[in-house]
Amino acid sequence: MKFIATDVDDSAGKMREKLEVAQAARGRAIDPYFYRSHLVYERELQELVFRSWIYAGHVSEVPRAGDYLLLEIGEDSVIIVRDGDGQVHALMNICRHRGARVCEDATGNRKTFVCPYHGWVYQTDGSLKAARDMELLEGFSTGDHGLKKARVAVYMGLIFINCNTDAADFLGPLSNLEEPLGAYDLENAKVAHKHTYRVDANWKLVLENYLECYHCATSHRAYARMHTLKDLDYKVKDVVQAMLDRTEEVTGVKGMGKEYHATYRDAEGFGACCYTSRYGLFDGYLTGSEDGQPVAPLMGHIQGYDGGAGDFQMGPLSFMLNYPDHCVLYRFIPRGLTATDMEVVWFVNGDAREGIDYDRDKVTWLWHHTTLEDEYIITRNSAGVNSRFFEPGPYHPEYEETLQQFVDWYLDTLAGAL
Ligand code: FES
Ligand SMILES: [Fe+2]
Repeated sequence: MKFIATDVDDSAGKMREKLEVAQAARGRAIDPYFYRSHLVYERELQELVFRSWIYAGHVSEVPRAGDYLLLEIGEDSVIIVRDGDGQVHALMNICRHRGARVCEDATGNRKTFVCPYHGWVYQTDGSLKAARDMELLEGFSTGDHGLKKARVAVYMGLIFINCNTDAADFLGPLSNLEEPLGAYDLENAKVAHKHTYRVDANWKLVLENYLECYHCATSHRAYARMHTLKDLDYKVKDVVQAMLDRTEEVTGVKGMGKEYHATYRDAEGFGACCYTSRYGLFDGYLTGSEDGQPVAPLMGHIQGYDGGAGDFQMGPLSFMLNYPDHCVLYRFIPRGLTATDMEVVWFVNGDAREGIDYDRDKVTWLWHHTTLEDEYIITRNSAGVNSRFFEPGPYHPEYEETLQQFVDWYLDTLAGAL
């Protein structure tokens, strides 16, 4: 099912009006207008997406000089590449002559990037090496025509980029996650599998779905059997507290149960959200697998199964759900008004050997299965939201609290930009 959303009499004035109404009606789902308007979508890219820190890849995906991968955001493309000095760059994939893409293949290794149009040649650090016959243009300097760059922050092997060159620092906020995230030794982890799920729905619907677990009990039977997040806090507080009481001793990691919350409006810098907490699995379950039993060797410095899972957010669009034996990263990227790339990356211990220490299908089972369930429900959500007859209802005060925080930030940012 694919829905082409449109709003035939759209304008900046209408957007302003809709934003005012939405801000005044806090506590309810937002107007269908925000999922249907092409003007809103362009604003979102400009004011939110291209000003936010976004997970781009893992260092092990670009281990050698010249290794690169492309990151597609909206209609744009960014080259994540390691240069000859070992530094990782994020280069805008747009030739500085007349704008052709300089790199086509999604991954690879290059000594240089040669524009297919007129042959300008760029180094892996983005600088322009040669521009054929341009010596005829007086005053032309290759030094002025390097590929544009996005900001890069590498934290524990995770590469983040921000297309806003004036972006707020991200490494400072991320350092608040150090104790619990460091436990997994992600720097030396291995990408066991990754997959891009293209969802035919507006990116906000896809993100909103991730930000609440009200739907978990009804949409995710396998997940809900194991994870306490599907219940209200007061119903599972004993299970969670018991896990928190033993986590440091069992895992051997100080600060494993740390809670830190600075996201959206409360983020230390714009688009630099950071969050962590540890929540419990029901008794008898050790990890997020089909039967709740281990599927890979313990990660990093973790010494045992405490019956918990680490929940992390890094930037507005990137998240991790970390079990003692594997980690699952989620990233949401708009690719059009009604198209979203939901990227899921599974990490295992760097020494783990596929087929010997772990079976890829077993590691990926739960979140592949759960993601397909999400895709199903999100596209049904999109169908309803895109109807002129949809009237937004109230958010749940606990289950949908985080979703409300996202919406507050979203509406504020768009309103502030108008
Ligand atoms: S557009 Fe790239 S060399 Fe002309
Ligand atoms: Fe879900």
